[in-house]
Amino acid sequence: MVTVEEIRRALEQIKYPGYSRSIISFNIVREIRLKEDSIEVELQLTTDKEEVITALRNGVERIIAELTGLPVNIVVTTPSGTTSSPGNQNINPFEQRSSIPGVKNIVAVASGKGGVGKSTVSVNLACALVGKGKKVGLLDCDIYGPSIPLMMGVKGQPQIKGEGAEEYLIPLTQYGVKVMSIGLLMDDAETPMIWRGPLIMKAVQQFLTYVEWGDLDYLLVDLPPGTGDAQLSLCQTVPLTGGVVVTTPQEASLGVVRRGIGMLEQVQVPILGIVENMSGFITPEGENIPIFGKGGGKAEAERKGYPFLGEIPLYVSVRTGGDQGVPVVVSAPESDAGKCFVRVAEEFLKQVENE
Ligand SMILES: Nc1ncnc2c1ncn2[C@@H]1O[C@H](COP(=O)(O)OP(=O)(O)OP(=O)(O)O)[C@@H](O)[C@H]1O
Ligand SMILES: [Mg+2]
Repeated sequence: MVTVEEIRRALEQIKYPGYSRSIISFNIVREIRLKEDSIEVELQLTTDKEEVITALRNGVERIIAELTGLPVNIVVTTPSGTTSSPGNQNINPFEQRSSIPGVKNIVAVASGKGGVGKSTVSVNLACALVGKGKKVGLLDCDIYGPSIPLMMGVKGQPQIKGEGAEEYLIPLTQYGVKVMSIGLLMDDAETPMIWRGPLIMKAVQQFLTYVEWGDLDYLLVDLPPGTGDAQLSLCQTVPLTGGVVVTTPQEASLGVVRRGIGMLEQVQVPILGIVENMSGFITPEGENIPIFGKGGGKAEAERKGYPFLGEIPLYVSVRTGGDQGVPVVVSAPESDAGKCFVRVAEEFLKQVENE
């Protein structure tokens, strides 16, 4: 069992934002209490600045969680009052979010870094869920490099219905999935988009508000790569039920996946599960060559206590399916590759619906 002193020592690593001194030396950590299955910490700040509160809260939570593996309750006292986590009243990022009528669950697909297969997992999971009888939408939030239209093989512009303030976009339906992407609204897919933060938020907000999603069991949201401010704000803009984190074994072994997990945790989005993509390459002889290693995703899931949704090896058919606009789950649901995604969908449903 960890001691209060050990926790205090670990917290010395955290510098007060903008200073080189640790928060311990600033006497910000007023109390550390060891509870039966959690740790309670009291922080006393002399500022109401949101950035500072969030940075300290997250830092303290991460360090203690990594040290003890236990949930951390942080009570922050600032000049304007006391807030505790979760359910923080002072800085509640959820306040501005609203749910979409008719949409039961909005689920983000995220990762710690780019190119690990978020979009591939999003399209195949969406199609696999349709195969399970679910009503599914897929929102491409990758404003800079939308790849969903290509991977889903959707072309053409969404129709606009209504007039004036009542105008809304009709998503394009492909393989039973309702698809919306900024890519569908651009004249030329090659045009690089230069967006500033506030514009991105506005665009995403409009995708949620002014798109006629209809009744959906799941709206999957393919997030852009990275864990920066844009991604964080997206998570706050979209009223998420939870997130699925995609990792490669290598990303897992290097700890990069923790960034993706951390990003969702930071905005209090429940992690529905972790998918390990690119879990080795299956040769035509059926042998698995662990190009990026193997098993890291599962190990990380176990370590953090999150559900593991499955492994997807590298298959040529997955890549060509993406390039040709026919996800492997649609073209070959019975193939090994197709089955991998179907299993992930089943595991996902188990987690969300206890099926
Ligand atoms: N299991 C797999 N087998 C074969 N190819 C794969 C697999 N997963 C992804 N790929 C390929 O890897 C490339 C990157 O995948 P994808 O675009 O889905 O990643 P991403 O995380 O969405 O990337 P970005 O961060 O740029 O949005 C694509 O060409 C895709 O077809
Ligand atoms: Mg992508």
